[in-house]
Amino acid sequence: MSQEYRVAVVGATGQVGTLMLRLLRERGFPAREIVPFASERSAGKEIEGVGTVQALTEETIQGFDLALFSAGGSTSGEWAPRFVEAGAVVVDNSSKWRMNDEVPLVVAEVNPDALASHKGIVANPNCSTMQMVVALKPIHDAAGIERLVISTYQAVSGTGKKAVDELLDQSHALLHETEPPAPEAYAHQIAFNALPHAGSFAPGDDHTDEERKLINETRKILGDEEIRVSATCVRVPVVNGHSEAVNVQTREELSPEEARELLRAAPGITVADDPSSALYPLATEATGHDEVFVGRIRRDPGHERALDMWIVADNLRKGAATNAVQLAEILNERDLITPRATSTLA
Ligand SMILES: NC(=O)c1ccc[n+]([C@@H]2O[C@H](COP(=O)([O-])OP(=O)(O)OC[C@H]3O[C@@H](n4cnc5c(N)ncnc54)[C@H](OP(=O)(O)O)[C@@H]3O)[C@@H](O)[C@H]2O)c1
Repeated sequence: MSQEYRVAVVGATGQVGTLMLRLLRERGFPAREIVPFASERSAGKEIEGVGTVQALTEETIQGFDLALFSAGGSTSGEWAPRFVEAGAVVVDNSSKWRMNDEVPLVVAEVNPDALASHKGIVANPNCSTMQMVVALKPIHDAAGIERLVISTYQAVSGTGKKAVDELLDQSHALLHETEPPAPEAYAHQIAFNALPHAGSFAPGDDHTDEERKLINETRKILGDEEIRVSATCVRVPVVNGHSEAVNVQTREELSPEEARELLRAAPGITVADDPSSALYPLATEATGHDEVFVGRIRRDPGHERALDMWIVADNLRKGAATNAVQLAEILNERDLITPRATSTLA
């Protein structure tokens, strides 16, 4: 008889958490109970069809087999190890554990075998990295990737619910010719703008943390520290769905036709590539879907071993919630939801 798990969803009132709750049910994850957790502000609220939101305490976190976290890095830093100590396996959406050598950083279609080495915590990559590596994996396997030049066009839902409200409120004000509310989620007005500042600048760094994540996480997931990566992450006034223009320089020659065939055959990818009929991936069309969409696949006229492509996905789904639930499913299928020691994680 297959096992049924007691599952915690931490950050259950947020955009990613809400979707994880929905996907666990829709995809039939074998849970005998799902308990929603959020901040103290939400404790006691009812989530329809799920139950009462709990606050995180030493008592409330006991007795779980699995915990899916999407409540930010500081909450994961403090509470993910405590869940592990209490016997759960944690799948974490925040950036807190991703680059820890003891923590596998896993994309379901790309490196699922890395899950076997987990010591209690498994990390879900950053949304812009996630969708890109799904598209890069078949190309890397076939021709080897030497260098990537990436420009992202990232939606505001990637910043959280408050940023979505900020875009809508500013847009509404500007369309009604009134003073837009001052920026809070971003350094500048996001409505009708493009901010070359997705993420934040650490003191002394000329790249944002989002750009560093793209560079470092891509190498870790593809298992190749030699790949050179140049990244510019831009926040655009799109509600949901990240788009990326990626220049892929390969070690072996690969034609656009060969790349298209590889991508068509790869799991989790839909190729939408007929520019003459205005067919290419769009954020509005990717929203609500779990796949990664790839189009505009063409030879870079400036380099005989480089291709350009346009990669789009729903950042809340494949970029976060869908992959987290896929990882939970693989952990279950491979019998990896078992208590581990966590003493080395800090
Ligand atoms: N949005 C994306 O595209 C995306 C993609 C990949 C990863 N992620 C990561 O997923 C996480 C959540 O993103 P989101 O877009 O869902 O954010 P969100 O809509 O702002 O939701 C944040 C969630 O975290 C909870 N939370 C905040 N502080 C907490 C605390 N101290 N203790 C317990 N719960 C707390 C909130 O509870 P309350 O409602 O009670 O405040 C809410 O449930 C972040 O770590 C983000 O980096 C997001």
